[in-house]
Amino acid sequence: GIVVSSLLKETGVVTMDPGFMNTAACDSEITYIDGDAGILRYRGYPIEQLAAKSSFLEVAYLLIHGALPTATELDSFVERVNRHTLVHEDFRTFMGTFPRTGHPMAVMSSAVNALSTFYPESLDPFDPETIELATVLILAKTRTITSYLHRSAVGEPLLYPDYSRGYVEDFLRMTFAVPYQQYDPDPTTVAALDQLLILHADHEQNCSTATVRMVGSSHANLYASIAAGINALSGPLHGGANEAVLKMLTEIKAGGGDAREFMTRVKNKEQGVRLMGFGHRVYKNYDPRAAIVKKSADAVLQSLGSEHDDLLDLAMSLEEIALNDEYFIERKLYPNVDFYTGLIYKAMGFSDQMFTPLFALGRMPGWIAQWREMMSDPQTKIGRPRQVYTGAVERDYLPVESR
Ligand code: ACO
Repeated sequence: GIVVSSLLKETGVVTMDPGFMNTAACDSEITYIDGDAGILRYRGYPIEQLAAKSSFLEVAYLLIHGALPTATELDSFVERVNRHTLVHEDFRTFMGTFPRTGHPMAVMSSAVNALSTFYPESLDPFDPETIELATVLILAKTRTITSYLHRSAVGEPLLYPDYSRGYVEDFLRMTFAVPYQQYDPDPTTVAALDQLLILHADHEQNCSTATVRMVGSSHANLYASIAAGINALSGPLHGGANEAVLKMLTEIKAGGGDAREFMTRVKNKEQGVRLMGFGHRVYKNYDPRAAIVKKSADAVLQSLGSEHDDLLDLAMSLEEIALNDEYFIERKLYPNVDFYTGLIYKAMGFSDQMFTPLFALGRMPGWIAQWREMMSDPQTKIGRPRQVYTGAVERDYLPVESR
């Protein structure tokens, strides 16, 4: 960074790097990826170990605070998150004003942004206590918000949290329970969703995280920065891919289910036809998250009684074709995390539009950790890329009657 800045001052030369293919914007100690080897680690811990042994809130603590919590630290963290899970009645009214058919990602980003108006005591971006409060508030409220996104879409009332249950278990209860009836989510579903949230918790400088950092670099508060990240995540080339994969599979099935014919259209680069859930800017090998998801997909679908899902069979055929096809081999295109997740969320009872909000819920710890790291880094400057101007040279204004 320093070398480039001084070069710019001395020579006026700028680096042109559309899509930031090769430009680092920060140092970070949070997440390590080796895209060629298919390695992902949070704070040094392999994703495979965390997915198998940890829990979402423990991983959140690890990402945000840099070390695994002791039992006392974890209890206190969970207790603080629990304490903030209720939302203000006016906030609930505000969320109820959106059209039920509106996309929940739009509601989610608006809701997270609106949290800043309800908690003005949590906005100072430089006070450690305030930042810790905003951290806990976001982890707590976004779970309630995500439940509400499902319930409002199906016309059900918001349920109160039950502090005796774990974060994921109670999320499922708040989302799917019928009011006043006992609801105990299937333990396999709880474990699978916990694992999915862990797998999504951080992924270094992807589009949405870079957005969170960019917005925060102007000293915008954590809520405003994360609301921007949610919007970046919504696009089908990023987190929106999980919803797009299911739409693609459903359309192939409706058209007769010919996987090879679809792949020919992909390879011919027909307008708007891509194999969604495949390819990645950084992974040029199997995405380690996709490997874990694929392994658990079978177990989860079986436990939920939908082991003969046609769409899962179709997804596996598409993968099989791709892994043996020159087009995909040459370009190093493998399934990414989004390829199989939608099928699992669908089997759990979520509608297609809820898939990307579930990704966002899982990504909260990463966005928070990255924003906090940036705010405390003395190297941080306001994000402000340069451009190469290619427009008109100077010309004189003409009054409208002379044009
Ligand atoms: N299907 C078919 N061809 C593809 C795909 C795909 N999914 N992805 C990349 N390619 C091809 C491109 O056409 C290009 O071919 P070319 O060299 O002949 O022009 C080559 O592979 C390189 O692709 P780029 O688009 O330049 O790669 P980039 O790094 O910019 O894009 C991206 C990465 C956006 C993820 C891309 O692979 C894609 O669109 N995938 C589908 C959407 C998706 O699944 N997104 C989720 C990513 S993971 C996440 O965000 C959580």
